[in-house]
Amino acid sequence: MNVKNFIETQVEEIKKIVGKGKAISALSGGVDSSTCTVLAHRAVGSQLKNIFIDNGLMRAGEPQAVVKAFADLGIAVDVVDKEKEFFIALKGKTDPEDKRKAFRYAFYNSFGREVLKSKAPFLVQGTIAADIIETQKGVKTQHNILEQIGIDPEKGFGFKVVEPLKELFKHEVRLVARELGLPEAIYNRMPFPGPALATRVIGEVTPERVALVRAATVIVEEELAALKPFQAFAVLLSDKGTGIVDGKRTFGDIIIIRSVESKDALTAEPTPIPFEVLNRMAKRITKEIPSVSRVAYELTSKPPATIEYI
Ligand code: XMP
Repeated sequence: MNVKNFIETQVEEIKKIVGKGKAISALSGGVDSSTCTVLAHRAVGSQLKNIFIDNGLMRAGEPQAVVKAFADLGIAVDVVDKEKEFFIALKGKTDPEDKRKAFRYAFYNSFGREVLKSKAPFLVQGTIAADIIETQKGVKTQHNILEQIGIDPEKGFGFKVVEPLKELFKHEVRLVARELGLPEAIYNRMPFPGPALATRVIGEVTPERVALVRAATVIVEEELAALKPFQAFAVLLSDKGTGIVDGKRTFGDIIIIRSVESKDALTAEPTPIPFEVLNRMAKRITKEIPSVSRVAYELTSKPPATIEYI
């Protein structure tokens, strides 16, 4: 792939589509939406409004880090607090596809309202090839797939979707990001799914359960940073396991550590983590999050497992 040509072509394409109108970029801080935002900003500059929807499901410190990274690039980002809406949409849902659909509905409704408010007819988003392939194959409902499965975004939500990265795979997006001058912290960032920590809470997604998995994620990311895994995170199961705290029996939460190596996320293998690192993570998680009584490391490849848990 010729990265420079790709950038030039996409910039021209976005200019042509948006014309003299306005567009909104759906920024999540991940490498795909960040790359897409810089590309669209290069194409239409101040005609582009960048919105980060704070859905209450992000990793620790994420909204602030995204705003700062883009401010450093001279790009303003508006954070819109929609936490309540997402938790209301997810309330009572335990089926993985129901959760994904509830997330998608909350996601496009939030953007739909922002798009209507700003009268921008275009939503620029960082859909990549793997998102489309997995959704069409029926593996799972990726949060950002509409037209490809027959949903007309204009009819449903009131805007047209612009997807400049839809033919690229993750490693190609990283090359484009680097060429566009994004910082390494973004272009080499671990993939993080649109439905965020909701994909890592089995059972009902409540603010308390998200806070728990968020705290465990901090520990996993810190302890595995040196190994530079393709993707690593914590998952909260809905089952419980017995434990002992201060000599008394408890029935506590179970955290799974998931870490995988992959090129394009279509297949993956578990990261060979040294035992002492695994042991240290388990000890830290149970000590720093007392409601957790058990920690396990997952050894399944993709396939047959997927990377995320829902
Ligand atoms: P799975 O779990 O299907 O994930 O093996 C493959 C890759 O895609 C990410 N992922 C998503 N990304 N929206 C996204 O933007 C989604 O709905 C979504 N679901 C999974 C996942 O983190 C992994 O990198």
